[in-house]
Amino acid sequence: MGEYGSDRGQGEGQLRPDGQAEIGPQAAIEGAARALAAGELVLLPTETVYGLGADAANPTAVAAIFAAKGRPRFNPLIAHVADLETAARIAMLDDRALALAQAFWPGPLTLVAPIRDTEAVCDLARAGLDTVAIRLPGHPLARAVLAAFGGAVVAPSANRSGRPSPTTHADAVSETGEACAVTLDGGPCEVGLESTVVAVLDGPPRLLRPGAVTRAQLEAVVGPLAEAADDARRSPGRMALHYAPDAPVRIDAAGPQAGEAFLAFGPWPDGEGVFNLSPTGDLAEAAAKLFSYLRAADRTHPVGIAVATIPDQGLGEAINDRLRRAAGFIG
Ligand code: TXA
Ligand code: MG
Repeated sequence: MGEYGSDRGQGEGQLRPDGQAEIGPQAAIEGAARALAAGELVLLPTETVYGLGADAANPTAVAAIFAAKGRPRFNPLIAHVADLETAARIAMLDDRALALAQAFWPGPLTLVAPIRDTEAVCDLARAGLDTVAIRLPGHPLARAVLAAFGGAVVAPSANRSGRPSPTTHADAVSETGEACAVTLDGGPCEVGLESTVVAVLDGPPRLLRPGAVTRAQLEAVVGPLAEAADDARRSPGRMALHYAPDAPVRIDAAGPQAGEAFLAFGPWPDGEGVFNLSPTGDLAEAAAKLFSYLRAADRTHPVGIAVATIPDQGLGEAINDRLRRAAGFIG
């Protein structure tokens, strides 16, 4: 493994402002863990591809991931953890999931299982689903950061939307490095292909995304896999997988009609059934609150959920994409 981390704006091999030479691995690991705890983004090497990491429990930090990727869409993200105990605290891992974990962790396998701790991996990170994708990466630097941080780190591939996943530090930095407080250099990724994603829910385990761990390897451990449902194969994590409120959703609403809950954006008087995504009109705040407020509004059993107009810029594009799906216009 080559050079370890560097802080933004202090190019590798340069002197730090305090005159110290390049920071060593331990300092880089601790710096990354501190940045994560502070809600900042970290470029995290894994054995598959470089990830854009954030504290999974912090919805504002998770919103920043979607913003950094550009043309954002709120796909559910993978929660990365340091050890099996942490994974089992966060997700409900049954015997089959545990067998797969024993066989392939640490390594390029992601398990989708029912969520146990909804705070540890927030609603936005799960796109409002009651399942969570979880993985214990094999890269020693990723594991060290996860262990130092203690919690779960969500990390999609560090590319900007629509571009290939970066497998070197330089590529990752040129994609999304600007959004990161710390970028860690773990050398070129050994696998270079995203992890295999397997859902272990009701029925036989289902292959959602082929990857470095093959179908044959998986079947040797848990027996025949179920065919992925058509919708999951077409667009994993996008349509049928998303949380949809029970109440019908009405977008671009000037205000609530009788019996409706209202998701406001910007200044709006408080009141029963009013959930303000961001009184100051901050899109990152609105993204961070979107899924939990949809749920909260739904719990009041309204005749419908009216949603204020959200500007279609930056994160607003992802918020509107999600809202149009919830309203039944897409999908
Ligand atoms: O190798 C990897 O997995 C890399 C490295 C950085 O760990 N990460 C990665 O993340 O590829 P991302 O966000 O690009 O892909 C996450 C995949 C998507 O296909 C998503 O739909 C699926 O995991 N996924 C996440 N949560 C899910 C859930 N609750 N149910 C079904 N699929 C889920
Ligand atoms: Mg990706």
